[in-house]
Amino acid sequence: MSIVKLARPEIQALTPYDAAAQVNNTVRLNANESPLSSSIGNFRRPLNRYPEVRPQRLQAALASRFGCRANQLLDTRGSSEAIDLLIRAFCIAGVDNVLTSSPSFEMYRHFAMIQNAENIQVPTLAENDFAVDVDALISACTSNTKVIFVCSPNNPTGASLPRTKLLRLLDARQNLSAVVVDEAYIEYGTEDSAVDLLDQYPNLMILRTLSKALGFAGARCGAVVGSADAIEMLNAVQAPYALATPVVECVEDVMQSAQLALAEQAIAGVIAERERLIAVIRDFPFVKKVWPSEANFFLIRVDDAELVMQRTAEQKVLLRDFGCSLPGCIRISVGSHQDSKRLLGALETLVEDRL
Ligand SMILES: Cc1ncc(COP(=O)(O)O)c(C=O)c1O
Repeated sequence: MSIVKLARPEIQALTPYDAAAQVNNTVRLNANESPLSSSIGNFRRPLNRYPEVRPQRLQAALASRFGCRANQLLDTRGSSEAIDLLIRAFCIAGVDNVLTSSPSFEMYRHFAMIQNAENIQVPTLAENDFAVDVDALISACTSNTKVIFVCSPNNPTGASLPRTKLLRLLDARQNLSAVVVDEAYIEYGTEDSAVDLLDQYPNLMILRTLSKALGFAGARCGAVVGSADAIEMLNAVQAPYALATPVVECVEDVMQSAQLALAEQAIAGVIAERERLIAVIRDFPFVKKVWPSEANFFLIRVDDAELVMQRTAEQKVLLRDFGCSLPGCIRISVGSHQDSKRLLGALETLVEDRL
């Protein structure tokens, strides 16, 4: 069954906004644009003109990168926009719900709230390094569960979802829910992308981003990947001209340049730095637990998280406190070797205090 049948009825009936035609070598008097072309920024396309409604070259390049066909991918303003599009397309406000593991990326809940869709959170198995409890996820589904987000590797725990568990979830929710695998951090992990499962599972959607391992968070570019008909539907929901000309050209250039190869080489360095940091930080006396991670961050539990946050901030090193949902827990992103030095120096001061 096509996943589109699970979407809100009015979204199923929606057709894409009929944007002004864009044809080369024509006099464009159909989009209320200015005739004044500016040389600011030195872009290949004139900035007085709207960007492509859907940038074709960019879409083809991202599809090739993420291993799908061009009609199976919609480029988005970061994968954040894709989360919003999915929830708005599938969830009837006040009726349908979004299922997530907990803890996980908070944006799922945020966008669910905006759509007035309930967010059912199913705890991960804390005693098992926060493994996703797929059986509990399946049991928690109701007849109104339209979207299930699984983040792999998961933010903030760093745990990946093994393929066997994903298959169990996809099988259990065939024809019932969109299962969205958020692969924002996949380049740092050991699991393969779920993209090869697309033809087998029409209910599978995948989120990808350029913001993490590929090093272009500033470009705000990501993608949602899924069956061609689901992508066509999301295309109608997304605003036309979603990606600005400077972004499109920047990402087109990135996809063709040596920069991407450099980013790929840097991934191994980040993983090595993550493992080195974990080994060092584990030995600080105030650190009670360090969880293994398949991402570019890791989670620790400390005696006094408030003090650790305060002391690192004093040293101008910012960490992320997860105390609200995970008492005593702090997430640490892996930066450069120099960044690690600053971090470890700040943590050292806490040890010195106690001597
Ligand atoms: C798991 C996860 N998914 C998606 C995103 C959104 O990233 P972006 O909108 O930059 O693609 C983030 C950002 O931190 C994230 O951690």
